[in-house]
Amino acid sequence: MLSQLFSPRKMYYRMKKTVETKSPISFNLNKRDFLKTNLYVGFAAFLGSTGFYPKRTLGSSNPLENFSFVQSNTLDTVTVPKEYTWQVVSLWGQPMFSKAKEFDHKTTGNAENQKLCVGDNNDGMAFFEKENRKLLVINNEYCNLSIMHHYSDGILTSDDIEKNMFAHGITIIEVEETNGKWVLKKDSPYNRRITPETEMDIKGPAAGHDLLKTSYDSTGTKALGTWNNCGNGQTPWGSYLSCEENFNKYFSCSDKEQKLSVEQKRYGIKTKDAGYQWSKIHDRFDISKEPNEPNKVGYVVEIDPFNPLSTPKKRTALGRFKHENAELVLANDNRIVVYMGDDQRGEFLYKFISTNSYESDKNADDLLDNGSLFVAKFENDGSGFWVELKPSNTGFNTKEEICIFTRLAASNVGATPMDRPEWVATNPLNTDVYVALTNNKNRGIKKNAAGDPMTVGGPNPRKQNIYGQIIKIRPDLENHSSQTFRWEIFAMAGNPTVNQGSARRGSPNINVENVFNCPDGLKVSHNGFIWIQTDGNYSNSGDFKGMGNNQMLVANPETKEIRRFLVGPKECEVTGFAWSSDKKTMFVGIQHPGERGNSSFPEGKKDALPRSAVIAIKHKDNLEIG
Ligand code: FEO
Ligand code: CA
Ligand code: CA
Repeated sequence: MLSQLFSPRKMYYRMKKTVETKSPISFNLNKRDFLKTNLYVGFAAFLGSTGFYPKRTLGSSNPLENFSFVQSNTLDTVTVPKEYTWQVVSLWGQPMFSKAKEFDHKTTGNAENQKLCVGDNNDGMAFFEKENRKLLVINNEYCNLSIMHHYSDGILTSDDIEKNMFAHGITIIEVEETNGKWVLKKDSPYNRRITPETEMDIKGPAAGHDLLKTSYDSTGTKALGTWNNCGNGQTPWGSYLSCEENFNKYFSCSDKEQKLSVEQKRYGIKTKDAGYQWSKIHDRFDISKEPNEPNKVGYVVEIDPFNPLSTPKKRTALGRFKHENAELVLANDNRIVVYMGDDQRGEFLYKFISTNSYESDKNADDLLDNGSLFVAKFENDGSGFWVELKPSNTGFNTKEEICIFTRLAASNVGATPMDRPEWVATNPLNTDVYVALTNNKNRGIKKNAAGDPMTVGGPNPRKQNIYGQIIKIRPDLENHSSQTFRWEIFAMAGNPTVNQGSARRGSPNINVENVFNCPDGLKVSHNGFIWIQTDGNYSNSGDFKGMGNNQMLVANPETKEIRRFLVGPKECEVTGFAWSSDKKTMFVGIQHPGERGNSSFPEGKKDALPRSAVIAIKHKDNLEIG
C-alpha cells in the first residue's frame, strides 16, 4: 500500500509538474473544486507547497528501508520493528544513589526518597558525552497524582505534597553501555535532581524587574526551581535547555475576594491548582500572598549538565509562555536562532535571534540573554514573516515587560494563532523547520484566550481540528535568521477509514497503515529523517479507530512517506528523543503509561504500578538508527 501510494519516483514527477505549473497562490484558485469534496485542506496544501526543494535533504542511510513497519495495537508494552530491540534505562522512582530505597509500589516512598530518585513523567531529554562519560538529562514534566498517591483517600499530607513536588523538575543521570545494555550508574558524581526548590538565576532583559521581586527575593534575579518541564533543547556549548510549560497549574489563591489580572488570566492562572496542593506547604504558590511568583516561571532554563554544582539560569530573553521545546540552530553568520512553540489553543510560534555570533572558543554565556524575539505571521499563499516584538509595536513600554508578558505582546502585533504548537524540529542537513501542531478542537469555533480569532486557513486549515498536522517552514535565503519564509503542510493527520471524503481523512501521505493523531514530539535525525511522536486519543475507536496506542513514526522529508516505528504501552504518551554519540542507540520516553489505571508497564505484574520510563532502542545488527 505504501509503496503503491508513495513510490518516490511517481511522487517526484507529480511534484515536478506541480512546481512548473502552480504556485501556492494558484492552488488557492483551485480551492473551490477541492472544497466541493472538503478535501482541499490536506490535498492542496500538500501539493501546493512543493515548489521548493532543499539542495540536500537526506543522509546516506534511509531508516525507512531498515525496518518492517509496526502495526497499531493496544498492547501494554512497547512494540518495535522485528529488526530492533528495546530495554528500560530509567524509571520513575528508580534510585540514583545507594542511600535511596528501591521503589515501593505500595507507598511510592516518601519525599526525601523521591529527591534521590528519577522523577516522574519523563519528557524531553538529551544525551551528553564528554571524556567518555555519558549523561542523560531528562525533563520530568508532571506527575500522575492518582498513581503516586493511590494509597490516599484524597487528603494529602505535607510529605505527600513534597513528594509530588520532588517528582517534578529534571533528572540528570550518568549512563553506560555494557554488552549492548544501558544502565544508570548509581552514585555517579554527575547524578543530580533539579526540583521546584532548586535555586536558579534569572538572566536576560527581565532580570531584576519589579514584576519578578518576591518576599524571598528582593532583587528579582533569583527563582526557586522549575516545574512542568516539557520539551528541551541543546546548545553547541554543551548545555541543556529545559522548557517550562503548564506552570500555571500549580498556583492557588487563598483570598477568595482577589480578582485575577488580565495577565494572569492569559497565562491560565486560576484560583485553584490542578490538585498538586503546593500552596498548602509553600506560600509562594498562593498568588494572594506572592503575586509575582508566577512571573518567575514560564521560561527556558539553561543547565550545565557536567557541573553538578552549577546554578540553572532562566533565560528571559526567550520569552515567557507555555514553552514546548527550544530548537536551537545557527544562522549562516553563526548567530543563535531558537525556535519555540507555545502549546495552547490559538497560541503562537516564536523565534529568538542572538545579537552576537557563537564562536566555539569564546564564552557563550551572553548569547541567550541578548537578542531579538520574533513571532510568526502566516499568509494563506504559502508565505510568512517574523515580527519582532518591540515596545514600538506591542503596546508595552519596555523589553523587560515583553519578556514577561510575551503572549500579550504577540497578540498585539497580530501573530497567527496556531493549532497548539508543540515541538519544533530543524533538519541538520538544510534549513527546513518542522512544527507539530497537535490539535485544536476550537479552530473555527472560538477565539483564543486573548480574543484573537482562530479562523480556519493557512497552516491551520481544518475546522475543529481533532487530529493535528505537521507543517514545514523554509526560511528564505536558506538562512535561519531570515525574517521571511515559505510554508507548507507536511502531513495532515486523519483517518481515511472513518472519514473518507472529508477533511478529516488527512493528507495523501496518511493511509490505513500509518494512521496516527496528535503529533507532538518531533526531531529530525542526523540523516534528515523526521521522527514523530504522538500524544493523542488512544481509544482506538470512533474517529480514532485503528490508531491504537500512542506511537512513534518516521517520515521521509522528500517523498513524505510515513511509517510507524513504535507503539507505546496502554494510556501512555510517547515523548522525548536522544541519540547516543555513535547513533546506534535511540533513547525514547514513555510517559504516563496507565494514566487511567489500565497498565502495569513496564513490570507487567499484578499490583505493579505503571511507571514512566526512558527506553533504549537498538538495531539487532547494531546499525545506526535515524
Ligand atoms: Fe508538554 Fe505541550 O506538551
Ligand atoms: Ca509535548
Ligand atoms: Ca501534547
